[in-house]
Amino acid sequence: MTETAVHVDSVSKKFRLYHERNQSLKSAIMRRKISVHEDFWALRDITFDVPVGSTFGLIGSNGSGKSTLLKCLAKILYPEHGSISANGKVAALLEVGSGFHPELSGRENVFLNGSILGMSRKEIQRKFDDIVSFSGVEQFIDQPVKNYSSGMYVRLGFSVAINVDPDILVVDEVLAVGDAEFQQKCFQKFEDFKAAGKTVILVSHSMGTVKQMCDHAAWINKGNLELVGPADPVIAAYEATYPHQG
Ligand SMILES: Nc1ncnc2c1ncn2[C@@H]1O[C@H](COP(=O)(O)OP(=O)(O)OP(=O)(O)O)[C@@H](O)[C@H]1O
Ligand SMILES: [Mg+2]
Repeated sequence: MTETAVHVDSVSKKFRLYHERNQSLKSAIMRRKISVHEDFWALRDITFDVPVGSTFGLIGSNGSGKSTLLKCLAKILYPEHGSISANGKVAALLEVGSGFHPELSGRENVFLNGSILGMSRKEIQRKFDDIVSFSGVEQFIDQPVKNYSSGMYVRLGFSVAINVDPDILVVDEVLAVGDAEFQQKCFQKFEDFKAAGKTVILVSHSMGTVKQMCDHAAWINKGNLELVGPADPVIAAYEATYPHQG
């Protein structure tokens, strides 16, 4: 039996969609209620296991719930039903800029983000040069990150996340904004991770990337788990549904 790195158990996540655009106090009083909303289930009863040491791809159309699932895994969101348990330390790189404060410098953000991800100040100090050198933004490390390009944000965020030395690395899409050289460096890091027996969970719209990187995959379709298992058949089924995608 293979060990489980992440166990996703019957996860359902609900958002409230508000239909009243003008939410002023006056209009609320006029209507005698706060707001009109509708429940929207972004994830419905999702269950699967991510095996230890696997590189696990999460695929599916825009708005299907992939990022929502990763946020539940990173404990940024909490599901209404079900639970997610991770076996080991998780480091997550979610949207571009998440975990970064725009007004602070790159240097300050490395410390901020590193401590959010569970590193001590000493540890960050020790790894600081490695983090900055992997990111390639040395020249701009004392500039506020609000002046960074999206690629620079991601480079620095990814460098912090991998230097946390997590057991489970979670990456949402963001690498797509990096250039070819940086993507190559990241893929090499994923290989190193895999060789060290660690687990990577990766969201991507590039089936080429998923084919190249992932041994397992799950396809989420409009909040439902469509298919999960070894990557090839899952990707094939997804591609068969969208035959004109690249
Ligand atoms: N905070 C929120 N409030 C309301 N609805 C939300 C919220 N976050 C996500 N949603 C909705 O949940 C659904 C799933 O969104 P999610 O970001 O998880 O999709 P995704 O699969 O990551 O899509 P993409 O491929 O475009 O990144 C979408 O319909 C989105 O509008
Ligand atoms: Mg997303």
